[in-house]
Amino acid sequence: MVGLPARGKTFVARKIHRCLRWLGHDARLFNAGDYRREMLGAQHSHEFFSPDNAEGKRARLAVAQAALDDMFAFLHGPGEVAIYDATNTTRARRALIVERCARERVTPLFVEIICNDEAVIEATIRETKVRSADYAQMDPEAAVADFRARIAHYASAYEALGPADGSYIKYIDVGAQLALQRTDSELAHVLVRLLMSLRGARKRLWLTRHGESVYNGLGLIGGDPELSPKGLGFAKRLARFMAEHREAGGELVVWTSTLQRTVQTAGQLQMSTVAWRELDEIDAGVCDGMSYPQIEHELPDEFVARKRDKYRYRYPRGESYQDVIQRLLPVVLAFEQEPRPLLVVGHQAVLRAFYAYLTAQPPQKCPHLSIPLHTVIELTPTLYDMEERRHLLD
Ligand code: SIN
Repeated sequence: MVGLPARGKTFVARKIHRCLRWLGHDARLFNAGDYRREMLGAQHSHEFFSPDNAEGKRARLAVAQAALDDMFAFLHGPGEVAIYDATNTTRARRALIVERCARERVTPLFVEIICNDEAVIEATIRETKVRSADYAQMDPEAAVADFRARIAHYASAYEALGPADGSYIKYIDVGAQLALQRTDSELAHVLVRLLMSLRGARKRLWLTRHGESVYNGLGLIGGDPELSPKGLGFAKRLARFMAEHREAGGELVVWTSTLQRTVQTAGQLQMSTVAWRELDEIDAGVCDGMSYPQIEHELPDEFVARKRDKYRYRYPRGESYQDVIQRLLPVVLAFEQEPRPLLVVGHQAVLRAFYAYLTAQPPQKCPHLSIPLHTVIELTPTLYDMEERRHLLD
């Protein structure tokens, strides 16, 4: 990462980390501020960050080196992508990274966060910095003043990324603009798509499975069945629930799959909806329309293989959870881009995959996440995470 303090580097770095991990990459975040607090203690005043403070400069370099050492150890071990969340605002600091990458045969890509909106910067300072351990027990206004002085030190020595900086993405004014240089790798393409979609809007989100289907009643998987009478009852309760819970007069975006049971469930809301093919339930291939006891009896090898590794197991001529995650990426990107509150009416496996992204769970956990029928999961975004409430409408 590259950028002045309070420009949203950590927000973006965490989104990149979440997305790459969800897609199955072994990615890890290394935050320079955390290393500093760990190595030197918190509560450094702004003078520590001045480019004219030789002692501070030496200490900050040692912190940066420690983070880099850990990053390269991770990359030479299990790691695939290390995200270095630090200011890296001078050419000298970036040269250090590039040289080390060349020596260690690692490909660097810079992501520079530029923000010219004073209101966004002010909100970031008040929401994140003033509450950090750096300013524990300090009067908030004094903390803001100190942090602004810290920013000024970095700004006085700031050298933006330029033609000599190799591969980079500049994310400008919360995604209003993007500038790219040599972003040819497949991973860079994923980041470009993510950053193009990342608009930072915090909106409430409700997730629910369709109401009980005729197949649910019979214990069968897959297919395109209609709702059972019980399922229709849930759809009606969902419509009443959403009328009570959504902001009065505010917009609500409703997404379903293309399958009847989600479309019928959302139909009771009497609102316009968008049907996503990507939200269709996991494709059970040759097992579509069968019950689990039937699969165990007729296809015992498949039954055992699925039990052994439910995340990677792919139904013959169907999909695995891993496949579902890959095909859900457009939905995740559309979610990041959407500024309005959102209701998603989906299916068990796809919602497990989507929920894993939203709550930053390792993808391997997906098949075991609890997404029961007739339960609305309400997610309210906090600064970096989601607050969750579950409503049983049975
Ligand atoms: C910090 O110590 O908080 C950040 C150090 C840096 O990346 O410049």
